Amino acid sequence: MELNIALLAGDGIGPEVIAQAVKVCDAVADKYNHKIHWRPALTGAAAIDAVGDPYPEETHAICASSDAVLFGAIGHPRFDNDPSAKVRPEQGLLKMRQKLGLFANVRPTFTFPSLIDRSPLKRERIEGTDLVFLRELTGGIYFGKRGREDDGETAFDTCTYTRKEVQRLAKKGFEMAMKRSKKLCCVDKANVLESSRLWRETVQAMEKEYPEVQVSYEFVDAVAMRLVQWPNSYDVLITENLFGDILTDEASVISGSMGLMPSASLGESIGLYEPIHGSYPQAAGKDIANPLATVLSAAMMFDDFGLFQEAEAIRDVVNRSLSEGVVTEDLADKGKSYKTSEVGNWLAKHL
Ligand code: IPM
Ligand code: MN
Repeated sequence: MELNIALLAGDGIGPEVIAQAVKVCDAVADKYNHKIHWRPALTGAAAIDAVGDPYPEETHAICASSDAVLFGAIGHPRFDNDPSAKVRPEQGLLKMRQKLGLFANVRPTFTFPSLIDRSPLKRERIEGTDLVFLRELTGGIYFGKRGREDDGETAFDTCTYTRKEVQRLAKKGFEMAMKRSKKLCCVDKANVLESSRLWRETVQAMEKEYPEVQVSYEFVDAVAMRLVQWPNSYDVLITENLFGDILTDEASVISGSMGLMPSASLGESIGLYEPIHGSYPQAAGKDIANPLATVLSAAMMFDDFGLFQEAEAIRDVVNRSLSEGVVTEDLADKGKSYKTSEVGNWLAKHL
């Protein structure tokens, strides 16, 4: 297969972790006779510096005409403490999600047997956890009407959803549940919010199309609690944009390392694959960041191409690196640690 993949390294550790994912993907392509054409493009603070826009038109054109986008991270500390900054790297991410129509953010949470004791949660609580969030990504309060009243003393952000937006996300949720253990949880705040009532009513109406799926409806505050009490009782969870943003950070703690969790953002056609961690500016340029979340995001990409063997091969070699202790310093405890680039080389070689 010939694959055109847009490569958006972004800021901070982005370029370093992306470089390892490229090595691993090229090794997989070699092994299974594919050819990957990498198409690098600018995004984030790097793009602001170069052209004044965190998601330039040229980058969009490259993404939109590729088979997938592999993304590193964006964000730079010089924008974080400057509320007056007019353009921010994060706007690039939001614009990209919207322009590419990436309405479904898939964020799995699972545990690695060899790392289970790294989680701050007790082993017996988290063992066997294998859940996946489907977070709505192009609607809700992130994209709603916002502003300040004339006096500047009052600010507002509004959460708006249409039935169609809920349906297309829920459809992906039901389909994913059918492929897994047929359990779907709709996370909302329907006891208070009108938009949540629309979510609940829409999902309820879809239940009859998927008679085998067992659907539960839970309030977001209760889910926040049960997620750390009994995460292994969940399978597929669907939710709106902001609830999903918050709950997926919480869920990443279960795995014991944010440096390991991949994600995919999907729409009608193209998918974007990225680690859930940020740009980690303190580590930038030091060759110490953990590349595994990005490498595992690439595995999700191969899955979505229908190249399941290739995806499995990547997950296998990642598991081997973990059990053989070929890990970056965040996972090394007192043992030997490897550089970002060394982990990438090891993975590519052992595929
Ligand atoms: C995420 C991030 C983004 C979000 C930020 C950087 C805009 O936190 O991908 O979860 O809130 O969606
Ligand atoms: Mn987030």
